[in-house]
Amino acid sequence: QKDGFDWFMRKEIYEQPKAVADTLLGRYDTDGSLRLDELRIPEYELRLIDKIIIVACGTAFYSGLVAKYAIEHWTRIACEVELAHEFRYRDPILSGRTLVVCISQSGETADTLMAIRHASEQGARVLAICNTNGSTIPRESDAVIYTHAGPEIGVASTKGFTTQLTACYLLGLYLAQVRSTLFGDEIAVLMAELERMPQTIQRVLDEAEPVLELAADFADQPSVLFLGRHVGYPVALEGALKLKELAYIHAEGFAAGELKHGPIALIEDGLPVFVVVPPQGRDMLHDKVVSNIAEIRARGALTAVLAEEDDEAIPALADVWIRLPKVSTLLQPLAAIVPLQLFACELATRKGHDVDQPRNLAKSVTVE
Ligand code: F6R
Repeated sequence: QKDGFDWFMRKEIYEQPKAVADTLLGRYDTDGSLRLDELRIPEYELRLIDKIIIVACGTAFYSGLVAKYAIEHWTRIACEVELAHEFRYRDPILSGRTLVVCISQSGETADTLMAIRHASEQGARVLAICNTNGSTIPRESDAVIYTHAGPEIGVASTKGFTTQLTACYLLGLYLAQVRSTLFGDEIAVLMAELERMPQTIQRVLDEAEPVLELAADFADQPSVLFLGRHVGYPVALEGALKLKELAYIHAEGFAAGELKHGPIALIEDGLPVFVVVPPQGRDMLHDKVVSNIAEIRARGALTAVLAEEDDEAIPALADVWIRLPKVSTLLQPLAAIVPLQLFACELATRKGHDVDQPRNLAKSVTVE
């Protein structure tokens, strides 16, 4: 049932506050300790892990890219992220102390399944982050963290992505707890912020009007770019993927720092560019991204800027300011992706496309 929405995808975008809340439910005890009951890997083994490799495809891969920043920062365990279909064919270095984390909404993606089979054969421990109970990937993994997004019917993943991020944050904090790389009160502060994220996402949804209007303005654009840095970079990649797959528009995500190494040549008069700006004041990358906006604007780009609601640098620079609530840098993707999902959904709707069943795509890719 679409519950009055035009598309399952739009309904699923609006379900994200609940999906994230459900994924967090029951994980954090009143005594201040995180519990991941389904995990099944004993704590002493988790203390021995010396490398994490995240494998996934598409949107799930982008959630893994965000996870790397959080996991390395909180746990100091080296974390790589790899496309599942590349991983298996390059003879990766694995051992009993490697934790392979595979992320899959459906739990049936063949590329991801083959990657974890390979990892298991090589003696690595495999942990699945998955939304589908009893699917093949969690069954073949040593451990699982289920996201509780409920069924995702729209082919383009939305609540799948935000709940994957949530599960990755939980995993990072849990490993930090087990390995004592964060103090209990630091975990408590981060968990409190994570637990506020459903309300934060709700605010983004309630204030989404500007991005819906933007979709009308940009409906005839042949190309849209997305820029971000640090955790904003995977958000840019995911924003571009949503637009490609739904609106069939050329869309490209770049790391903002990479601009001057090539992509800035693409900037021309009237080119729409979304920019994800890190929080002001608390993040040293903020000013660098702000100067990127000035550089592309000087070359004629139309800038749609996702930045905190009280960011003083933005009014002078943004053609359109998509206001984000204040959150800490590592958690910002949970809020920042939402306007980009809505933008793609709205733009595809305006172009008359079938948003729930984009051309050439299947919900789960069960062939390699
Ligand atoms: C994009 C999308 C795909 C999936 C990818 C992995 O919107 O949905 O990129 O994220 O095919 O699928 P799962 O997560 O089921 O393994």
